[in-house]
Amino acid sequence: MRVDLHFTPHQADDLSLRDKTVVVVDVLRASTSIITALHNGAKEIIPVTTVERAVKISGNLFGDYVLRGGERNGRIIEGFNLGNSPADYSEDKVKGKAIIFSSTNGSFAIDKARYALHMVVCGFVNISSVLEFLVQKNRDFTVVCAGNNGMFSLEDSVCAGMLLHKLDERDDVELVMADAAIAATLLYKGYSKNILKMIKNCEHGKYLAEIGFADDLPICAATDTVPALPQFVGNVIKLKSDAEKKEIAKVPLVS
Ligand code: MLT
Repeated sequence: MRVDLHFTPHQADDLSLRDKTVVVVDVLRASTSIITALHNGAKEIIPVTTVERAVKISGNLFGDYVLRGGERNGRIIEGFNLGNSPADYSEDKVKGKAIIFSSTNGSFAIDKARYALHMVVCGFVNISSVLEFLVQKNRDFTVVCAGNNGMFSLEDSVCAGMLLHKLDERDDVELVMADAAIAATLLYKGYSKNILKMIKNCEHGKYLAEIGFADDLPICAATDTVPALPQFVGNVIKLKSDAEKKEIAKVPLVS
């Protein structure tokens, strides 16, 4: 199994990800919020890159069945129901709802990978679910870190490194890593003893704490607290089990 890695989505060309298996990582905080929302019963997440599009497609259903979630500069967007704190996506708020979601870097990374054959969303909180998915698929894959406004982000790279390190440790997997993937695993090894400390010290972690979201950091730094695998199918993100039902439904019946 060969793995490529992009430290920012800007390094990837949309078409180069076509038909690939892609893992999108945005630890702070889009991945963690999306994973939490689906685990807490949200029906689907509809990722969009602009606020205008979020408002347009939520249309008449807004507020009842459809919610808007996301952030700009880390803060809730005017006219949206939910920000980008994982705690915002509690069961009482999201169960049964479709959430139109727009965040600065996470939605951009997801959009980059829209032509992928498989795309899954990864954070520390669901790392084992992603690992099992990759083992099961047993095909080459690409990791796309969301980064920070086109720049490298430590927390996404360390999370990607944890995933690759865990995969590489398995006896049933033979992993061939591109140089960027090797670099990510080395970063992970450097920080593996204290992920929370790394999150608190990275640029975006410090920024979030400064603007009042320090409580989000331990939630995003926790490993394997949310056993859920968000998968992008047909322009929406669903839990893997629901996404598979949707894929099966698309297969034409042979008479
Ligand atoms: C993003 O997509 O840029 C982030 O998730 C930003 C954040 O809310 O921390």
